[in-house]
Amino acid sequence: MVEELRTTVGIVGAGPAGLMLAHLLHTAGIDSVVVDNRDRDTIAHTHRAGILEQGSVELLTRTGAVSRAHTEGHQHEGTVFRVDGVDHRIDFQGLVGASVWLYPQNEVFVDLAKTRDADGGAVFYGVSDTQPGGFDTDRPTIDFTDADGTARRIICDWIVGADGSRSVCRTTVPETTRQRYAHQYPFAWFGILCEAPPSAPELIYARSERGFALVSQRSDTVQRMYFQCSPDEDPDDWSEDRIWSELQARVDGPDGYRLTTGTIFDKTVLPFRSYVTEPMRHGRLLLAGDAAHTVPPTGAKGLNLALQDVRVLFEALRDAVTRGDESGIDGYSDRALARVWKAQNFSSWMTSLLHLDPQASDFEFRRRQGELRGLLESAHGRAYLAEAYTGWPGESTLTI
Ligand code: PHB
Repeated sequence: MVEELRTTVGIVGAGPAGLMLAHLLHTAGIDSVVVDNRDRDTIAHTHRAGILEQGSVELLTRTGAVSRAHTEGHQHEGTVFRVDGVDHRIDFQGLVGASVWLYPQNEVFVDLAKTRDADGGAVFYGVSDTQPGGFDTDRPTIDFTDADGTARRIICDWIVGADGSRSVCRTTVPETTRQRYAHQYPFAWFGILCEAPPSAPELIYARSERGFALVSQRSDTVQRMYFQCSPDEDPDDWSEDRIWSELQARVDGPDGYRLTTGTIFDKTVLPFRSYVTEPMRHGRLLLAGDAAHTVPPTGAKGLNLALQDVRVLFEALRDAVTRGDESGIDGYSDRALARVWKAQNFSSWMTSLLHLDPQASDFEFRRRQGELRGLLESAHGRAYLAEAYTGWPGESTLTI
């Protein structure tokens, strides 16, 4: 026996993108059902990046869906590039009149999951055997087994694949009808969470002869930091002392700056790659966020891009469902991809600017130093950085 459910939009993936879309649809009176193979607690405790662009915060807070971002998040009006131990501040407000917010992705999820409860919308967490299909028909379906073992089928008008980089929705589309673009990097990030007060009021992106490091924050008592490492690094090889001395060595400078250390309670090696699949629409399947594109973590664009997809997608679905106007759906992939490729460029450029490529020649190493100096000494260079980091206003309508 298969239990059948009928909805307008079936959403695979209950991360921030899937749940934000479900909430926006709800505000427009459009019904949706969300499924995720992870349970709610696992998603709430999955650590991802913590920076929200100004436009992301506006989207998340406008309808009250993520109300704590303003009260518990921290507005950052700038960031620091620390090059060989010398600080260069990028003043976002002074340069482009924008800010970013430090508010961790798992907190965004916690808020959105509560909002979904308040909306009274269905979310099936902890499902298995998810199988979307029928994208080329008027009634696409999502088959799955729910957490209690009941086999279910959701019959939808549209399916949204917001199911992350290992997307089942994407892989259901035949490879012959999609194009993939990928780039690998010869390094990864070693990420830690520690119990300590903040080491700095804003983020510090550090480049040193030992490689990249990032000093970020989570709260008054918990901090997040990263350093560039080899992709096959084993976290167990790194004692607390070894981690702190490596991080400190990468921020050492003539100003005598010291990190505030504390107990490390989480160590992870984060993979690093760029990936885009095109198009982002296949019949009645629409891909959003990491299901369609992955960026390296430098610049924290991943969640912001996913939310931008959702903004464009929501308007497209609303027009299709309420007015029968599918022009937004037809234009979705191109509109979303225009920003995706700008962000791919920014993330990969910021990565190469700040990391040491173990395979690079001495010439390349020196050239990068020149590039960084040219950028930081130029008000226009800093403004470019500030504009891209805080998020370009709206998606471009430029056709190139
Ligand atoms: C983080 O706080 O996790 C973070 C911040 C900025 C980045 C990447 C990660 O560029």
